Amino acid sequence: MNNKGFQVRVEGSDKVITCRENEPLLIAMERQGYARIPVGCRKGGCGVCKIRVTTGEFEVGKMSVKHVSEKERNENFSLACKTFPKSDLKFSLIKLKGKAINIGALGIDRKN
Ligand code: FES
Repeated sequence: MNNKGFQVRVEGSDKVITCRENEPLLIAMERQGYARIPVGCRKGGCGVCKIRVTTGEFEVGKMSVKHVSEKERNENFSLACKTFPKSDLKFSLIKLKGKAINIGALGIDRKN
């Protein structure tokens, strides 16, 4: 962590997101202008913000086991709205309803 926070990257993108201490990953992404990321309840209940952390440390808040099972938690699946980075990390966005997420369409690489 530098003085701005943890450096977070989405797999498949060079864009860096800065996440503050104790800030949910989803909120950090929204704060930095990623308006088209999958956002639903923001409370860990709908599952649209599902991710899998590929490197780095994180903690999770309360989230629906319907969307992230205990087995998946052990495999670093999580929900971005309930994921709190504790180190620099990388994550992948997870397919929704059988459709792959197009990172470009989400504005992840948007130049702003
Ligand atoms: S926005 Fe609903 S679970 Fe994250």
